[in-house]
Amino acid sequence: MKKLITNVAVYADGKVSEGKNILIDGKRIVSFPGHPEKIEDAEQIDGAGMLALPGLVNTHTHVAMTLFRSYADDLALMDWLQNMIWPAEAHLDDDIVYWGSTLAFAEMIRGGTTAFCDMYMFMDSCAKAAEAAGIRGNIARGLAGVTPNGMKSLEENVELFRKWNNACDGRIRVMLGPHAPYTCPPDYLKKVRDTAEKYSIPIHIHLSETKGEVDTCREKFGVTPIALMDQIGLFDCPTLAAHCVHVTDEDIEIMAKKHVCVAHNPGSNLKLASGIAPVPKMQKAGITVGLGTDGASSNNKLDMFAEMRLAALIHKAATLDPFAVKADDALRMGTKDGAKCLGYDDLGELKEGYLADLILVDRSEWHWKPRFNSISLAVYAGNSMDVDTVMVNGELLMRHKELLTIDTEKLNYEVERVTKKLYAFKHEN
Ligand code: NI
Repeated sequence: MKKLITNVAVYADGKVSEGKNILIDGKRIVSFPGHPEKIEDAEQIDGAGMLALPGLVNTHTHVAMTLFRSYADDLALMDWLQNMIWPAEAHLDDDIVYWGSTLAFAEMIRGGTTAFCDMYMFMDSCAKAAEAAGIRGNIARGLAGVTPNGMKSLEENVELFRKWNNACDGRIRVMLGPHAPYTCPPDYLKKVRDTAEKYSIPIHIHLSETKGEVDTCREKFGVTPIALMDQIGLFDCPTLAAHCVHVTDEDIEIMAKKHVCVAHNPGSNLKLASGIAPVPKMQKAGITVGLGTDGASSNNKLDMFAEMRLAALIHKAATLDPFAVKADDALRMGTKDGAKCLGYDDLGELKEGYLADLILVDRSEWHWKPRFNSISLAVYAGNSMDVDTVMVNGELLMRHKELLTIDTEKLNYEVERVTKKLYAFKHEN
C-alpha cells in the first residue's frame, strides 16, 4: 500500500520547505504531491509540526558491543582493547550477539538511525536481528590475521556474503572486515584484497586511529598505515576506512585518488583520547566523510544527533574556523554522505526515486523554539528523543515513539538474561 505523509517540513537540497507532502510507493519515495486530497489509495501519516529528514546513517559500529557499555571506561584504546574488551569477547556466542544487536537496533531506531555499518563476530546473529528489526545495515565479519583462525574467519565472511548480501529486500549488504593493520599483517591483507576482488565485496577497516598505531607502522614498515594499504592494493577495492585521525597530507592524497570513504567517529575519538581527525581537510580533498558512533562501549550512546553536533563543534574549535563544519555539512554527513559510505547512490536524501528511509522529528519541545532555522536546530539543539516516526524501505519501524518491530518487554528481559550469561566468567575461579 502507498503511504502519504502530509503537511510536513521537508529537508532537501540543503534547505527546509514547510507544508509539503511525501508519497511513498513500496520502498521508494515517488513524489511530493501538491494536492494530497487527490490521492485516495494511500495510508495517511499526519506530519503536522514535524520535520522530515533522511534516516540517519551510522557508518561505523560494532552493534553487539552495547553489552560492554560502561564495562570499561576512561582508558586508552590499546589498554581498553587488550586488557578489558578482548578477554570479555572470548565469552560471546550467537545468543548474546543476537540480543546485544537487537538492543543496539532498538536504541538506533528510537533515535532516528535507519542504517548502520557493522564489523564484529557471530554476524549471522547480527543479520537475523537486523532482519527482524527492519533496519538497514552493511555487515562484515571482523577479521584478525594475527589469530590462529584468521583464514577461517575470512571464509566465514565469504559465507556471510553468499548468505546475506542483498537479503531482506536489499536492506542487508555484506562487506569484508579486516580489523586493522595492527591485527592484520600485510600477507593476510593481500588475501583479503584477493577475496574482495574475486567476489566484488567492499572493505571496511579501521585505519590510523591512534598516533601509536601510526608510529608502530612506520617503525615496522617504513610507511603510514594508509600508504601501506595502498602498497598492498587494498584501495583498489571500494574501501570504507574508520577513524583516519592521524593522517598526513600524502595519506589524504592517496585516499582521495583511490576514492576511499571515511567513517568519522568524533565521540569515540574524543572519549578514547585518540585525537581529532582533519575532516575539513579531507573533505576539501574530495573525500566522502560519513559519521559513526563506533561501539557503545567506546562511546556509550549510539546517538547520531550527538555525533552530528560533535562534528560541527569540534572541527570549528580544532581549526579555529567557524565555517569548518557548518550545521548543513554535519546533517549531510549524517545522511547523504553516510549513505555513500555504505555504497548507496539512491539513499540519504528525500528525493523522487530514492529509497524511503526517513524520519519525522517532533519540533514541539522548548529547545525547538524559536524556529528561525530548522537545520541549525536539528544539529545544535536536536535530540535523538525528538524522533517521532521512523521508516525504512517504506516500512514503519516506529510511530509516535513506539517501536513497531521490536517487543521491548521481551528485549528488556533477554538483555538482562544474556548480560548475566556474558559476565558469568567474572565469578568463575
Ligand atoms: Ni571501531
